[in-house]
Amino acid sequence: MNVARERVEFLREEIARHNEAYYTHDAPTIPDADYDALLVELRGLEGDYPELASDASVTHQVGASSTTVFSEVSHAEPMLSLDNVFDVDELTAWAERAARGLGADASALAFAVEPKIDGLALSITYVDGVLVQGATRGDGRVGEDVTDNVRTITNLPEQLGEAHRGRVEVRGEVFIAKSDFLALNQRQRDAGAKEFANPRNAAAGSLRQKDPAVSRSRPLSFLGYQLVDLEGSLTFDSYVETISQLARWGFLIAKEMVVVTGVTAMVERSNWFEEHRHDLTYEIDGVVIKVNDLAQRTALGFTSRAPRWAIARKLPPEERSTRLLAIEVSIGRTGRATPYAVLEPVVIAGSRVSMATLHNEDQVAQKDVRPGDLVIVRKAGDVIPEVVGAVAEPGRRRKSAWRFPANCPECGAPLARGGDQSDTYCVNPACPAQLLQQIVHFASRAALDIEGLGESRVAQLLEARLIGDVADLFALRVSDLSSLEGLGELSGTSLVAAIEGAKSAPLSRVLVGLGIRHVGPVAARELAANFKSYPALAQAPLEMLEEIDGVGPVIAASVYEYWREPENSERMERLTAFGLSLVEPVNATRLGQTLAGRAVVVTGAVEGYSRDEAEEAIKARGGTSPGSVSKKTYCVVVGDSPGASKVTKATELGVTMIAAAGFEELLRTGTWTTTIT
Ligand code: IVH
Repeated sequence: MNVARERVEFLREEIARHNEAYYTHDAPTIPDADYDALLVELRGLEGDYPELASDASVTHQVGASSTTVFSEVSHAEPMLSLDNVFDVDELTAWAERAARGLGADASALAFAVEPKIDGLALSITYVDGVLVQGATRGDGRVGEDVTDNVRTITNLPEQLGEAHRGRVEVRGEVFIAKSDFLALNQRQRDAGAKEFANPRNAAAGSLRQKDPAVSRSRPLSFLGYQLVDLEGSLTFDSYVETISQLARWGFLIAKEMVVVTGVTAMVERSNWFEEHRHDLTYEIDGVVIKVNDLAQRTALGFTSRAPRWAIARKLPPEERSTRLLAIEVSIGRTGRATPYAVLEPVVIAGSRVSMATLHNEDQVAQKDVRPGDLVIVRKAGDVIPEVVGAVAEPGRRRKSAWRFPANCPECGAPLARGGDQSDTYCVNPACPAQLLQQIVHFASRAALDIEGLGESRVAQLLEARLIGDVADLFALRVSDLSSLEGLGELSGTSLVAAIEGAKSAPLSRVLVGLGIRHVGPVAARELAANFKSYPALAQAPLEMLEEIDGVGPVIAASVYEYWREPENSERMERLTAFGLSLVEPVNATRLGQTLAGRAVVVTGAVEGYSRDEAEEAIKARGGTSPGSVSKKTYCVVVGDSPGASKVTKATELGVTMIAAAGFEELLRTGTWTTTIT
């Protein structure tokens, strides 16, 4: 009991502190998901130990009271919060409870399912059709008068689009659309100002500006989802009718909102939001499910903090905080030294994360993360997890700032950074870590596709000094492998057979496997298709290489010089002697001209392609890949960390945007099945 009491007190203090930071200072100290976890735990304890429950507990409060310069507004009707559920079982249980409360059949109940926009709640009062006041939620009872700033929101009607007498309040969410957010942060960067952490913080900060001119310069939007008509002049039977009225008045409403019948369809539609959250124009942190029938809503009523007729299904968080145990450096096949975070394992978006990239030296310095810090880790889609930044922990002594090691952790050679580049490299071409990654790459699926030759097997072979170069692979015999742990005769035989089989790989794949700088799969295919065999390619003069479609001067020079390095020409001689065919079969490379005459703009990182490779891939299909978006652009491929100006331009011009995940489909078919709106 005492343990529970202490924990409850601790949780209440923690939550109150985070409330203050989030609601009053717009500076959250922990990710939303961690906050929710604290609240869920506290609610659980209060339920298990009723003697510890209290009306004054933070579990009964909505938001936090504020201490800013705006004058107070008492809400005519309280602005309530929503209760949360975190999975399908809890969601189903809520719906069944609601049905029971109504004495209705859950399979016949109509639900509106809509996005839970990650912005902040706003109530706007209209008298005789004219906007007179805008107020934040505050503590739910009393909010702040932000009328002057609300008037700067451009997608809001100053005057209702249809005549209306009397007083109504339209409630909804103020937010910054994803593309507007990117453009806003680009502007901040250009001006040397601090970037915003996320659209919600930016929206909240922008709405609570003392100077409306600042609010005006911020791309705020408003989306309506509630109508408060205390005079009762409007009579609607359902939520959909209410929402349609808002649309007729000129408000933006959620176009993804759907009314469905029954729990199964409701759950299905809410899953749809989970799947498509990245395709929406705004950030969402969940799905809101509301009983559609207004009479049923009245019958269900409210608890002290939330309606019983609505629920928020929180989507799995994509950001979590965890302890940074150490910062280490890994060496890639080109010698690039990439710092990465070793983390106390944490589950993000359904997968366990114990490492996250820190990209390069500048990123570590900019994020100022230090071993021992509590850090926020983000995982977006299939992208490698990354560390967003450190969480402030007042009173905790931090370790000193991390320094990039001066020497390669693998071979001890110096690490060097070119003056104007952000990447650091191990200068030792014989570095065992580089060698290991080069051989792994040579055997990888994109290259010679040698089954059974993954990183640990290659490491074993190197360790046993059975190989020291990719060419040595072809000299391996089954008897050599007998000493390797975990490799029986059978797998030894199949490994040797797989290596033997790779001898007939087309030249283009060998070129990929060699890891020649700037030569990706597309350039490799073009080179191989043009010269047909290794000797012809190796003898080609520089000018001839440059003339090939999809091979620019940079790639041409890199290939030309590669053969002229003695170490490389020797390797090629050995590969030839071992019987590799090094020819390109006809038809192996002819690519369909799926993008003939079309301009495809790429912005941001596309997984599996460097910028050059992505452009080459488009050109190899007959397309062009200009650097900017225009009316003539066929589509824009939006990768990780896209350029704000391209996204904004595409949105303005109505040019189709597709996610990087659809890039290969675009190359293959010349079209797409899903787009970003
Ligand atoms: S309905 C009485 N619908 O989520 C019901 N809220 O966690 C009032 N929110 O305070 C809320 N999208 O700021 C509703 N489609 C949506 C929403 C939404 C975002 C916010 C809103 C609310 C909070 C509750």
